[in-house]
Amino acid sequence: MLRSKIAGIGMYVPPHVVSNNDLIQFMDTSDQWIQERTGIKERRYAHRTDETTTTMAVEAAKVAIERAGTKAEEIDFIVFATLSPDYYFPGCAVLLQRAMGMKEIGALDVRNQCSGFIYALSVADQFIKSGMYKNILVIGSEKHSFGLDFSTRGRNVSVIFGDGAGAVVLQPTQNENSGILSTHLHSDGDNAELLAMYNPGTHANHWVKDKLADFDDAAIGEMFMSHSMIDHAQNFPFMDGQAVFKKAVVKFPEVIMEALDANNKKPSDLKLLVPHQANLRISQFVQQKMGLREDQVYNNIDRYGNTTAASVPIALCEAWELGRVSQGDLVCLASFGSGFTWGSALLYW
Ligand code: ACO
Repeated sequence: MLRSKIAGIGMYVPPHVVSNNDLIQFMDTSDQWIQERTGIKERRYAHRTDETTTTMAVEAAKVAIERAGTKAEEIDFIVFATLSPDYYFPGCAVLLQRAMGMKEIGALDVRNQCSGFIYALSVADQFIKSGMYKNILVIGSEKHSFGLDFSTRGRNVSVIFGDGAGAVVLQPTQNENSGILSTHLHSDGDNAELLAMYNPGTHANHWVKDKLADFDDAAIGEMFMSHSMIDHAQNFPFMDGQAVFKKAVVKFPEVIMEALDANNKKPSDLKLLVPHQANLRISQFVQQKMGLREDQVYNNIDRYGNTTAASVPIALCEAWELGRVSQGDLVCLASFGSGFTWGSALLYW
């Protein structure tokens, strides 16, 4: 049976390290608060002008392509997941196609936030299994630091996020001990506004007002982006942290078990679970609930913060570089985030 396998993996994080203490100059926070609630010690911020979501993706992609033993000219499709694109439109996939001098191949952008990489991987997996493409580049990349509220007003969100990129090259395999066994994707839009960035957008507050009693509607009916939206911080991400936490700790184990059940596997069969690095407390909760040992779960949020669509490929790449996964190992990737959307992928490395 034809499957798709990760033939090469790469990551890139900007060199600029920002510690929790560095954030104190902008907002009323503390290293202790951030570490206790999130497990984060530091994160990376991209260079303000020289680095973008796409340029970071290019660096990760170069490594993944080389490790896959192929060339940029041989890539026949791109799937690019991000919530922080270089432009509102067009998406980053075409910018990467241009930057890497690729052929006039299909280039698709995925907007599924924290679940973006799993969704992108699932799309690519279907194209490989159908025989349509043979060399797909799948990317998660984020430059969060460009659009966070660094005042005390935005501290509950801003301390969590960091920048970086991860990439994989998917290729077909007939080897039954290798490749993606299944992917599982879900959504529940009931609480779409509880983890969201409303503007720029065309909502004219239709949905937002229903969900958030205290949403300041000074900007109702205003154009795409206005001064009052900016004055009311409506151009920054909003997060109801406790609501996200409560849903995440239910949906993570559910979608991991769905992947294991679909393939007649048990949590104890897993060599490694690579969860989206949302918050260390969420990962620990999932580990405990699923009865996994510490060495069965890979976390690196302490060093990179939450890099949204990039977090799973960055963590998987690091785990592989450290020898935590090797050929034939059973690996589960899982994510949960804005939408809400969540998903998992089970694979033999
Ligand atoms: N530094 C210091 N104090 C802060 C900070 C900060 N950075 N942020 C908030 N506070 C204060 C609040 O103002 C509040 O003060 P008050 O009691 O005087 O009103 C107090 O800390 C508690 O605030 P809460 O928002 O209730 O804090 P909570 O305990 O819920 O922790 C957190 C917030 C860490 C976001 C938590 O809700 C959480 O982990 N949620 C999960 C969400 C998550 O992981 N999101 C990641 C992105 S989404 C994703 O990837 C799935």
